[in-house]
Amino acid sequence: MTKYEQLQEHLKGNQNTWLVTGVAGFIGSNLLEKLLILNQKVVGLDNFDTGHQYNIDQAIEDANEATGKDLSNNFRFVNGDIRELEDCQKACSGVDYVLHQAALGSVPRSIEDPINTNRANIDGFLNMLAASKDANVQRFVYAASSSTYGDHLDLPKVEDKIGNPLSPYAVTKVVNELYAQVFAKTYGFKTIGLRYFNIFGKRQDPNGAYAAVIPKWVAAVLNKENVFINGDGETSRDFCYIDNTVQMNLLAATTDNNEATDQVYNVALNDRTSLNKLYQMIEDRLIQRNTRTRKERANL
Ligand SMILES: NC(=O)c1ccc[n+]([C@@H]2O[C@H](COP(=O)([O-])OP(=O)(O)OC[C@H]3O[C@@H](n4cnc5c(N)ncnc54)[C@H](O)[C@@H]3O)[C@@H](O)[C@H]2O)c1
Repeated sequence: MTKYEQLQEHLKGNQNTWLVTGVAGFIGSNLLEKLLILNQKVVGLDNFDTGHQYNIDQAIEDANEATGKDLSNNFRFVNGDIRELEDCQKACSGVDYVLHQAALGSVPRSIEDPINTNRANIDGFLNMLAASKDANVQRFVYAASSSTYGDHLDLPKVEDKIGNPLSPYAVTKVVNELYAQVFAKTYGFKTIGLRYFNIFGKRQDPNGAYAAVIPKWVAAVLNKENVFINGDGETSRDFCYIDNTVQMNLLAATTDNNEATDQVYNVALNDRTSLNKLYQMIEDRLIQRNTRTRKERANL
């Protein structure tokens, strides 16, 4: 049995209470689903800025289907805002583990609106960190970001070698890590940050100006719309599947290895995929549903 399999078996027989912030979003709703499947109690906090009620509904439905049980009573929703300390305090009450996902994502959004990105991602983060510390939660795990590597060019990316941030969003994620370090030093409140690379999977929003590339392209191919690839398409990224992200969160929250805390970890595949290759992979998998070929689309 792997450590993760052991953990899942353990959780099924031991109910804890988890707070998932950003529960109506992509990653938050997947965490909710998995925790419900594992017989855990979940408190969800969200203000629906970029998340949707249907993500929560689907997560509960999928968990019910996977277990053959009605798990809706194991979920409590707090309609609140992490920019409000009181909302964070209310959500943290009686919680064992916090998985902090709520933030305004997207580099382009932060360039257009640095003020609101800062409010959600720094003010909101600090509120959640302070409320979690004051509520004596066992562990605070938070969504950090690969954007923290900034202009550091080396590959592979190693956690202790970062560059200068390249966007307001990246600044907020660097500041999160600094606050987390300072809370460990000042209050002995130890956290774990997970530097997500490009996470993909179900319930990722394909709509809007700031949609991530995989859901956006999948939707475009299914709707027989044109896909625009920036530059020569040879820019490459590390894409990491949502189930791996969920696994990292659960292991980070429950580790009893003291040395593993007050740290940040990459959440990535450690492999690069160019945008051209990604497009080809999406098209190949969806080809039966979409009769137009790539060449035909390029000629439109
Ligand atoms: N998806 C990725 O590839 C990726 C990569 C790096 C980091 N991250 C980080 O992971 C986390 C989750 O990302 P996601 O892809 O699930 O995004 P998402 O937009 O789908 O989810 C974020 C959720 O947070 C909520 N939220 C935003 N501001 C809030 C506020 N002030 N109060 C309460 N709730 C608020 C939104 O309504 C939404 O439901 C974010 O912190 C993001 O920065 C994601």
